[in-house]
Amino acid sequence: MSHNFRMAFTGNGTIWMNGKLVDWKDATIHVASHVIHYGTGVFEGIRAYDSKRGTHIFRLDAHTRRLYDSCRVYRMEIPYSFEAINDAIVETVRRNGFKACYIRPLVYRGYSQLGVNPLPCPVDVAIIVWEWSVYLGSDALENGVDAGVSSWTRMAPNTFPAMAKATANYANSGLIKMQATVDGYAEGIALDESGMLSEGSGQNLFLVRDNIVYTPSVGSSVLQGITRDTVLTLARDLGLEVREQVLPREFLYMADEIFFCGTAVEITPIKSVDKIPVGKGRRGPVTAALQERFFGIIKTDLPDAHNWLTPVGAVVGA
Ligand SMILES: Cc1ncc(COP(=O)(O)O)c(C=O)c1O
Repeated sequence: MSHNFRMAFTGNGTIWMNGKLVDWKDATIHVASHVIHYGTGVFEGIRAYDSKRGTHIFRLDAHTRRLYDSCRVYRMEIPYSFEAINDAIVETVRRNGFKACYIRPLVYRGYSQLGVNPLPCPVDVAIIVWEWSVYLGSDALENGVDAGVSSWTRMAPNTFPAMAKATANYANSGLIKMQATVDGYAEGIALDESGMLSEGSGQNLFLVRDNIVYTPSVGSSVLQGITRDTVLTLARDLGLEVREQVLPREFLYMADEIFFCGTAVEITPIKSVDKIPVGKGRRGPVTAALQERFFGIIKTDLPDAHNWLTPVGAVVGA
């Protein structure tokens, strides 16, 4: 079965909605809610990992900060403090009892009216958690995936702001992902409006050549990924030179190594682009070294030198 179809929910568990924990089946909204019609939502994707140190959430503050940043762009005022949202995320993970899970905070314009103007609609908040394992298939992290350059372009500057993680942006991501799937690729690599490298449907792109680590800059219609920032930090820790810059498409066919990174895909090597092998056609040494650091911090016992982990703790009274 393709990796694209293995994400069905179990329908169990508890969802945080506007300050209350409700049963999974009761976490519903009205079909006349603004967000359904006009894509007026922003969200986050976060992971909690199981480790020798217990369950902890990876880079919670950075994700919550980006959620607030996205809200500012869209003039949405979250009716909870930063700390309250962080606490609600921790509490939702704890109450569901998952050792490891994916966390989806969502802020959206709810039920009131369906004029295009979102401002009269309430700002609602939900936090959904579920168990979601390796995004691109179980051997992807080791052996890499095949990617193809998409014929769909990422959002042009000053249209849909790429740095805001808005639900509306994922109409574009969906087109990229469907085309890649139909064409037999695990993922698509999208170009920006000027034909320069941008990112995948839900992950940032990195290229390595002569031990220098490159990634498209934020001016190339990318989401400023938190895993992207993590990789840049870990690469510097490893003594590697990193460059955030405009990158032409042909760099894909000349790179020694390429990988995707994101909360869902973690660090996933790309073994071919447009059926041209990347480097030796398998995971390269820089990608492997970055994975080792990344998974070492979140899953085993490398020191959390950058303060990236928030412990979830046990359920009180459980
Ligand atoms: C379009 C897009 N780019 C990049 C990323 C990676 O971002 P992060 O590392 O914060 O998950 C994501 C995932 O959230 C995404 O949806």
